[in-house]
Amino acid sequence: MTKAIILSGGWATRLRPLTCSIPKPLMPVVNKPIIERQMILLKSAGVKEIVLAVSVMANEIRNYFKEGEKLGVKIRYTNEKHPMGTAGAIKLAESYLNNDNFFMLNGDVILNFNFSDMLKFHESLGGIGTIASKIVEDPSRYGVLITDEKTNQLLKFLEKEEYKPPGGEYVPMPINAGVYILEPEIFSYIPPNHKVSIEKDIFPKVATNMKLFHYPIKGIWKDIGKPYELLQGNILLMTDILRNLKVKRNNLIDNSVDIDASTDIIPPCTIGENSVIRKQCRIGPNVIIGDNVYIDSNSEIKQSLIYNESYISKNAKIVNAIISDNCYINDNVIMQGKGEDLVLLASYVEILKNIKLIAQPNRPISFCHHELVKESIE
Ligand code: GTP
Repeated sequence: MTKAIILSGGWATRLRPLTCSIPKPLMPVVNKPIIERQMILLKSAGVKEIVLAVSVMANEIRNYFKEGEKLGVKIRYTNEKHPMGTAGAIKLAESYLNNDNFFMLNGDVILNFNFSDMLKFHESLGGIGTIASKIVEDPSRYGVLITDEKTNQLLKFLEKEEYKPPGGEYVPMPINAGVYILEPEIFSYIPPNHKVSIEKDIFPKVATNMKLFHYPIKGIWKDIGKPYELLQGNILLMTDILRNLKVKRNNLIDNSVDIDASTDIIPPCTIGENSVIRKQCRIGPNVIIGDNVYIDSNSEIKQSLIYNESYISKNAKIVNAIISDNCYINDNVIMQGKGEDLVLLASYVEILKNIKLIAQPNRPISFCHHELVKESIE
């Protein structure tokens, strides 16, 4: 029976300071931790046992998922004292995964596609591994796949620093989407007790033996390496969930939410359990609000994520921002990110009244958990 392993143990430096208080695998994506969404997809493909390869902030992840009782899957954990690299991490689970093929997922990709279809595809080809691929406009930041269009065979696996586009200009290419189905034979390529990268050290070798294939994803894929991608990925998935609802709705608003009749919700928006939105607010488009959030009157929020239990007082203006859980925003605060340069608050940040936080190109604004913000940045 097919099992799965989810890599959940990197340092997540590019998402700091958000990941100083929330491990990347628990980062909310439309109000559920990113790897919980992955586990739901795995479960729908018949996977009943999942290994979480944890290292950094391992206890937070264990405490959240425990043995998997809530999700109805069996969850086990590997024990890496220090991150062992993406292949080193799966090698630790060899004795558990070596009796059948298994899914391997990077725990930092937002996905919505049919995993059963990928499994059928893999089993029909007889390779050692199948790598899910996605064509992206700018492949410069990813591992690039050179493929045979007819057979789907992977001819070359090139990490980002190795791929030089012909003519020097990047054109859309299939890239490594960080979702694989592997046969136990893969373990014979990975030396034990070493820090080893599956992308840099293993796949290029297996590709030369012509034993890797790629599976073009028909659906949603987005990695959340950087804060702007986290925001974009949330919006992408929210839009996809709304598009696929059987009964059409413009927003995903929990029944327990209390919204004043004078407030406008501009779709698409998501609002989680027991949140309250007072008078004369304008919320949306592209806003995702978690559970137990309070937004006081006359506030405007666009293109932003607000995690659970945060409090936003009167007359706030929030655009292009990510506000982690338990933040407290006092009266008349303006927070404005610019393009990819967002305003980021880690958990438990408080912003005093009348503060303005205006990001500029290449000058994002961010605060670590428990900071008290007393001065404006413009
Ligand atoms: P950055 O530091 O921002 O690059 O993020 P990262 O540490 O998460 O690295 P990267 O984005 O390359 O990791 C892709 C996926 O692999 C993520 O889900 C990580 O949690 C995971 N990962 C990376 N390195 C390790 C490791 O050494 N051990 C384990 N268990 N997981 C890892």
